[in-house]
This record gives sequence, C-alpha cells and structure tokens, in this order.
Amino acid sequence: MLRRELIKKTALAATAFAFSRDLFANVFNEQLMPYQQESIIKIGSNENPHGPGMAAKKAMIEAVSGSNRYPWDVTTILREKIGKQFNLKKENVVIGAGSSELLGVVSTWAALQKGTVLSPDPTFRLWIPAAKRLGLDVKLLPLTTGKAIDLNTVNNAIDSKTKLIYICNPNNPTGTVIPPATLETFIKNTPKQTTILLDEAYTEFSNEPSMAHLVNEYPNLVVAKTFSKAYGMAGARVGYVLAHADTAKQLSDLQPWANAGASAVSLAGAVASIDDPSFIAFCKQENIKARQVFYDALNEHQIPFITSHTSFVYFDTSGYSKDFRSVLESSNIFGARTFEDGTKWLRLSIGTVSEMQAVAKALKS
Ligand SMILES: Cc1ncc(COP(=O)(O)O)c(C=O)c1O
Repeated sequence: MLRRELIKKTALAATAFAFSRDLFANVFNEQLMPYQQESIIKIGSNENPHGPGMAAKKAMIEAVSGSNRYPWDVTTILREKIGKQFNLKKENVVIGAGSSELLGVVSTWAALQKGTVLSPDPTFRLWIPAAKRLGLDVKLLPLTTGKAIDLNTVNNAIDSKTKLIYICNPNNPTGTVIPPATLETFIKNTPKQTTILLDEAYTEFSNEPSMAHLVNEYPNLVVAKTFSKAYGMAGARVGYVLAHADTAKQLSDLQPWANAGASAVSLAGAVASIDDPSFIAFCKQENIKARQVFYDALNEHQIPFITSHTSFVYFDTSGYSKDFRSVLESSNIFGARTFEDGTKWLRLSIGTVSEMQAVAKALKS
C-alpha cells in the first residue's frame, strides 16, 4: 500500500472522528449546561455509575508519580495481561485510547482496500461518518421486529465488494445478544476477504462468551473491547482489539504514533482492574438489580421494552401519553435518547439502583 495513500486516509479518518466528537459534545453539553452537574442524574452514555473500582483507583493514584516516563512498559504489561485473559498472546492485542479509536483504525484499514461495509442498524454508529468520509459505501441492514441482529440478513447481503461487516454484540442501542453458536457459524462462513469487526463493548454484562478465542483461526475477525463500560473507566480512555497477530500488526501500523494512546495513569488502572474481577461481578449484579427497577417502572406504565443483556434498555414510548424525555428532564434526569427517526423508541442507560428509583418516581409524578 502506498505510504501517501495511507497518510491521506489516516488524516481523513482523524477529521471524520473529530466530526463524531462534535456530535457527542452537542448531545450532552447543550442539555446539561443550564444545570449544576451535581444535581442531575446523567444516564445517557452507558457509563458505569460505580466505577472505577478501588484497585483501579489505587493503581491510578500510584501511577501519577511515574507520569514523567512514557507508558511503553505498562502498555506491554497490559497487552500481556489482556492476552492471557483470553488465552492469547500480546501480539494479538492492540491497545487504543478507547475502543472508538480502534473502530476508526479498522474503518481506515477497510477503506484502504475499498468496498462496502455492512452493518445491522440501529447500532453503535460512531464509526459510520468516518467510514463514509473515507470513501466506504455503508449499507445498513434492518433488525428483526424484536430489534435483534439477524445474521441471515447480513449473510444474504454479502457480495464480492463487502470488505467489512460491523456487528455490535450485545447490540447498542437495542441490548439484544446473538446466540454464540449462531455467531460462530456466521464467522466460520464469512468469506476470508471480508473483515468482521465484532464490537464486544458490553459482553461483560451478558452471560454470553466473547468470540476472542476464534481470532487465531480467523484472521478476518477483529474483536473490539473496552475498559469504558463494565470496568467503569470511560474517562480514562483505554480500549483494545483482539486479532490474529498479522491482523493486529497491520492495525497497529495504522495508529497515529507510539505515544498517541492512553496515558500511563489510565493504563495502570486498566492493568489493576483486570486483577479485580470481583468489581466486575459487583457491577454486573448491581446492573441487574437497577435494570429490574426500570423494567418494573416500564411495566407499570405499560411501556414495551426489549429484554436487555447490557447496561441500557431500549423501549417504545409510542403508547405513553406524555413526552417521556420531558418527564425525566423535569426531574433533572438526562439521557433518554432516540436512535430511530420517526419512531418513539428510546434508550436509557442503567444507573445505580437509587438513580433508577428516581426514574420510577419521576414517571409516577
Ligand atoms: C458499542 C460501543 N462500542 C464502542 C464504544 C466506545 O467506547 P470507548 O471508546 O469509550 O471504548 C461504545 C461507547 O458507548 C459503544 O457503545
């Protein structure tokens, strides 16, 4: 591949992602500016209301005094630790400043080969403007009536031009999960020249396993994961992809440069949080409890919802007599968001049990 082309594409990707960042800023800052941050409940970005865990916090505080050094050693330690967690090697792991960075890197990689991207939709759309600006033709495929990803629909849409397939599992915003056997068969049957970008940002909240164990067998499989959700470190900006060593090398070559990623402090927090599985177990249990409080409130108001395998819930407010979002916002609860134009489906993140009780109370008032 021509170096000039690579630089041009990477620069374009950076611009495209800056554009996505503006979108995020608009969604939240405009809503929140008139209010004091402390007096609001913010449940719109699927952030973990409990994190980071104690071990991660302690490690990050300790790492501050080592911030005079570049974070190369801790990056290697983290890659080794993540690799071990999935029975893989550090060569299978690429670390980024959040998994968003790496979704962009994979889009850039696909764009270098030119062609079409397939994605079930609604899904996590952050990478889509970037992919389009990079010249990829993005084809969005409908979900089932139950808002689940239908891999048969995806399979039928694959042709010789398909370079990339994005699958978010569990899916954001709908919260559905693909049964592992179905997903594994899909991965096995996808043509080798088509990359599958499997976004597992929320796997830790579900009872289904990661597909990372397949990356050595399928070099066209890239699994993206993050410390932003179950690990509660969204502000620390640490994510990673797991891939065959050759694929991982090609992806890491597309990262801007060696020191552009997460800070030494954030990486130290990520390392410590891997050694603290009890925190993940705690967050998963709390999420189940708080999600149930929200389910009960939705049921009480006869608002249909999709059973969630994640830290957010997708629900249909078309039969609700009031404006759901305004009802919450008048109680200083922000975050109900729409992902399907022309419908009244909304997504709300799951906060703490008491935050979801506040949601239930607001709906009652
Ligand atoms: C499905 C999915 N993937 C990736 C991300 C990006 O996460 P981060 O860049 O914080 O790792 C998000 C964030 O909301 C997400 O929902």
